[in-house]
Amino acid sequence: MGNVKKYWARQFGNPTGVGGKIAAFIMNRMNKEMYRSVVASAPQNGRILDVGFGNGALLKRLSRATDADLFGIDISDDMVDLAAKRNRKAVENGKLTLAKGSADNIVFDGQFDFVYTVNTVYFWQNLEEGLAAIKDKLSDGGKFINVVYTKEWLDKLSYTRYGFAKYAPDELVAAVVKIGLKAEIIEINRGKSFCVCATRADGDKV
Ligand SMILES: C[S@@+](CC[C@H](N)C(=O)[O-])C[C@H]1O[C@@H](n2cnc3c(N)ncnc32)[C@H](O)[C@@H]1O
Repeated sequence: MGNVKKYWARQFGNPTGVGGKIAAFIMNRMNKEMYRSVVASAPQNGRILDVGFGNGALLKRLSRATDADLFGIDISDDMVDLAAKRNRKAVENGKLTLAKGSADNIVFDGQFDFVYTVNTVYFWQNLEEGLAAIKDKLSDGGKFINVVYTKEWLDKLSYTRYGFAKYAPDELVAAVVKIGLKAEIIEINRGKSFCVCATRADGDKV
């Protein structure tokens, strides 16, 4: 049983093959409220980056909801392929650019006005390095939102015992403040999910 749970935990952290497709589909069903809160926070224009886009369902929503130039990175080759298929038109039109990459290796040039990540920090090798790399890519006034489930809620899912780093809201806020961003917590669903919303404001002393 432990091996089955480890298998699914791996599929959420780095989805591959058929299991990866199934895990990504499950995420789409589970994360709808989170997706809505990202769409509501996104700017209408400028450059937007999704870190760890999975099968690209949220990017598809954003391509319909905004006129922004969209970019995405994910560590999984299979998710890069799947998201490209799902967003074929946007990719062909040059509205969306996808690449293999990670939070601490953002492979695109230039700055972003809005960077978000949904349910990926549990899997990052190093939280601080990933956040610092994102900060470097934010324009002055740019916004970063990190959307996650609470530790209490994740603890109810037994497979999250394997390979998930679970963070308290204060820990995630402290991590972004440490690298010089202003941050606040916004609750999405009480006791279940929240986001840490951070802004880069070079003009201010943080
Ligand atoms: C739980 S899924 C979430 C997918 C998507 N954000 C969503 O909410 O539907 C985690 C995704 O993050 C990717 N990922 C894991 N670690 C990453 C990292 N360090 N940098 C970028 N992507 C990462 C995985 O490949 C996977 O596609």
